[in-house]
Amino acid sequence: MRIIAISVVALALLTASPALAQQKPDPAKVDAAVKASLKTFPAPPEVWQPRLDADETMRACAASDNSPPKAVVDAIAKRERGSIEYPADGQFIGDWKKGEATAQSGYGLRSTDYPATRANGGNCYACHQLSKTEVSYGTIGPSLLGYGKLREFKADEVKIAYEKVYNSHAAFPCSLMPRFGSNKVLTMDQIKDLVALLMSKDSPVNQ
Ligand code: HEC
Repeated sequence: MRIIAISVVALALLTASPALAQQKPDPAKVDAAVKASLKTFPAPPEVWQPRLDADETMRACAASDNSPPKAVVDAIAKRERGSIEYPADGQFIGDWKKGEATAQSGYGLRSTDYPATRANGGNCYACHQLSKTEVSYGTIGPSLLGYGKLREFKADEVKIAYEKVYNSHAAFPCSLMPRFGSNKVLTMDQIKDLVALLMSKDSPVNQ
């Protein structure tokens, strides 16, 4: 009897799964689940609270499954571009060795990372291949192997790389890549180090 009952449930689940796959999560339920999880995990500090609220860009992207109409895409790009701050001396390239360490590090903004004991990481390898030597990388983003070499180390490409890391949504609204500079996850100096990693001839990215 029990076996039959279980197989009926399994059958119901199996037949229901295509419909489930198409179902969109109800934002109110997602919000409630996130709020409930705060009781299970250590509560984030007060200063992190604003990061739990979706901003205008996130809301526009979520409301359209990341493909908003052109007018909204343009508005996002304009707003996000406006949030990019540039180095006063126009120098975009830092130290690639520090950039590699930042690309490797996933430290920061997790419930266990407060109070912070070191600088945040960019966790770039979680989504990108960057060097031949690091074999553990994710593929949510494109491979960045040979990034600078492919762009002939051009000065305007250096600036594009800086802007990309500072705010991914300026060039690609509703990108899956975080806005590291605008959201104050990484400092300007850390972003310059990452630009060096991408755009220096001697960086492991370009070997
Ligand atoms: C959560 C995944 C994710 C993380 C983490 C991430 N990226 Fe990305 N990245 C993407 C995706 C997806 C794209 C493609 C869409 C786009 O261009 O925004 C992308 C695009 C890029 C591009 C442009 C590539 C091109 O062909 O023009 C660069 C450069 C880049 N990322 C660098 C970085 C660096 C440096 C870091 C770490 C600070 C990083 N990314 C972290 C997902 C990620």
